[in-house]
Amino acid sequence: MAEFSLPKNSVITKDGKVHKAEAGAKDVRTFRIYRYDPDTGENPRYDTFEVDLAECGPMVLDALIKIKSEQDASLTFRRSCREGICGSCSMNIDGTNTLACTQAIEDIKGDVRITPLPHMDVIKDLVPDFTHFYAQYASIRPWLQTVTPAPSGKERLQSPDDRAKLDGLYECILCACCSTSCPSYWWNSDKFLGPAILLQAYRWLADSRDEMTGERLDELEDPFRLYRCHTIMNCSNVCPKGLSPARAIAEVKKMVAERAI
Ligand code: SF4
Ligand code: SF4
Ligand code: FES
Repeated sequence: MAEFSLPKNSVITKDGKVHKAEAGAKDVRTFRIYRYDPDTGENPRYDTFEVDLAECGPMVLDALIKIKSEQDASLTFRRSCREGICGSCSMNIDGTNTLACTQAIEDIKGDVRITPLPHMDVIKDLVPDFTHFYAQYASIRPWLQTVTPAPSGKERLQSPDDRAKLDGLYECILCACCSTSCPSYWWNSDKFLGPAILLQAYRWLADSRDEMTGERLDELEDPFRLYRCHTIMNCSNVCPKGLSPARAIAEVKKMVAERAI
């Protein structure tokens, strides 16, 4: 009997399992969470969890951890830092890609609907497959590339002004909220690098110590890899770190154009 394996307070509905709040809960909020387990062969579904916010931390990640601890241990999601710096808890919350650990529950009206990042293959529940995204990241060689030896064999210095050019770029945590909100990336992610990777590419183009600018631009100058960006701006609107991948992409396009003059 399937019901025997259900956690306490669970019932099956056509839509998915409903996990009721404990009796006496004071401030109940409903979370509707995408569930998918490829091992079962079943279609994805939404499960419903009633959470007592009086006994829960303020962020969506707090609610997910509470649900996993108290209602359904099989709920699967990524998280690590709980501070908005590791990028692993990115997901779609209430229709917007963001970080569960920095999204306050009180800023969401009504039921809280949570799905994985859009247009990615799903490994399980809220865990998307980042294999392709990371391969694209590796393709831009995200490290300092030089041909000349470091002065006196020491570190390569950078002026404060040159260092400031990396502000708004180095803070990217590779959460992929931007890329998975970009329609061009949805339809062409096999060839288009997408906003996150292009922002990272610009981070190295903008670094005064890097000596591979020409080679980096050669790699990017391609109708798909770079120019599939149509300046729709979803990426900059959604970035939970307040960065602007669209601006970085515009800077890359400018560098390509300027070297052609
Ligand atoms: S500005 Fe470019 S990268 Fe950003 S969402 Fe629009 S098309 Fe995608
Ligand atoms: S630019 Fe922003 S949204 Fe995109 S990967 Fe970096 S931190 Fe995430
Ligand atoms: S847990 Fe690290 S960014 Fe959310």
